[in-house]
Amino acid sequence: MKDELPQLLPAHLGIIMDGNGRWAKRRGLPRSAGHAAGAANFKKITRYCSKIGIRYLTVYAFSTENWTRPAEEVSALMTLFRKYLEEALRDFRDDDIVVRFLGDTAAFPPELQTLIRETEEISAARTGMVLNIAMNYGGRAELVRAVRSIAERVRAGELAPDAITEETVSSALYTAGQPDPDLIIRPSGEHRTSNFLLWQSAYAEYVIMDVLWPDFGPDDLNAALREYANRSRRFGGV
Ligand code: IPE
Ligand code: IPE
Ligand code: MG
Repeated sequence: MKDELPQLLPAHLGIIMDGNGRWAKRRGLPRSAGHAAGAANFKKITRYCSKIGIRYLTVYAFSTENWTRPAEEVSALMTLFRKYLEEALRDFRDDDIVVRFLGDTAAFPPELQTLIRETEEISAARTGMVLNIAMNYGGRAELVRAVRSIAERVRAGELAPDAITEETVSSALYTAGQPDPDLIIRPSGEHRTSNFLLWQSAYAEYVIMDVLWPDFGPDDLNAALREYANRSRRFGGV
């Protein structure tokens, strides 16, 4: 059946929420209108993922490189983040969703930082899907942060350099303790990672889709999940 969900679902799904600007441009609207539509879709797709039984969902909301955009666009995004975190605090409760943040959140306006802390604290005791929101996140910045924390442990004499393993690095990332992403979906048709989960995505399956994020609906997600279920993952074996 065309719209059916496959039996095999990814335990960890990543989504690069891309294409808001082009969506707005096609409608003759300002880019901020595309971000507003994208933010509304984030809420819809998050709840859908929780409903169908995804255990970990990571959404890429704002990269370390996105600060280079015009001040007006960055400021519109900060306003949207505030609005949607307030709504997430309220509405994700019903879905039992645990909310976590990946990235250097200290760079955000103080009011937004408070909201980020509150959202993490209030949702921590829940037992449902884990939603990671990657905000001011970059895979390279995350690795630099991990290297620094490992170097500190070496300097303190707690860790010998030859005792550093892949597990040591994984445990020093924002995603410590979580499984690596199995599937990463990129709407908007771009064939690149744009610095998303560089270490964690070593063996992730990528599905690139020609739909812009604000138009990406549950049917598109189901199609990506069906494609994932039909892939042959070999992890370097035969
Ligand atoms: C993704 O949409 C949202 C963010 C990066 C914050 P874009 O704003 O990148 O949309 P396009 O790629 O320009 O269409
Ligand atoms: C990646 O999209 C970041 C997010 C979706 C948050 P970009 O639009 O910033 O990536 P590039 O510039 O097309 O590589
Ligand atoms: Mg983009």
